[in-house]
Amino acid sequence: MAILKIARMGHPVLLARADEVTDPTAPEMQRLIVDMAETLADAGGIGLAAPQVHVPLRLFLWRDGPALRVLFNPAIAPLGPETEASWEGCLSIPGLRGRVDRPARVAWSGLDERGEPVSGEAQGLPARVLQHENDHLDGVLYLSRMKDLTQLGFTEELARLAESRT
Ligand code: NI
Repeated sequence: MAILKIARMGHPVLLARADEVTDPTAPEMQRLIVDMAETLADAGGIGLAAPQVHVPLRLFLWRDGPALRVLFNPAIAPLGPETEASWEGCLSIPGLRGRVDRPARVAWSGLDERGEPVSGEAQGLPARVLQHENDHLDGVLYLSRMKDLTQLGFTEELARLAESRT
């Protein structure tokens, strides 16, 4: 097991379209999952995409309630026209938070760590995490999804502001 180095904004790997994984059960993929899980736990995040650890492949880890799940070659599609705005952060953009409007419900599918097809529906935070992580596989960062940059700030400042309001 190893804690991997996280690519930060400015690194080209975060702006490229990642490639499909041919065999999720390959030993190097299994090792990558373990290392990504350790890296995510160490960073205290709720999702991590392979390009964020300099691996340009289509897989990510995401927290689904208490479970940490892995999805290879995912497909994410909005369910209905409803959107929801909420705060997001990114391990590749440390210290910042932005409010992003995204589809409120999504259908997701892909392959799990055994290479078996899996699918489901998500709403709320899991739906947001799935979309955020899937964007990483297409070289898209949440900042590009923001239409109002007044809704972007340093976590520290936003916390101070929230504190002064209560
Ligand atoms: Ni991110």
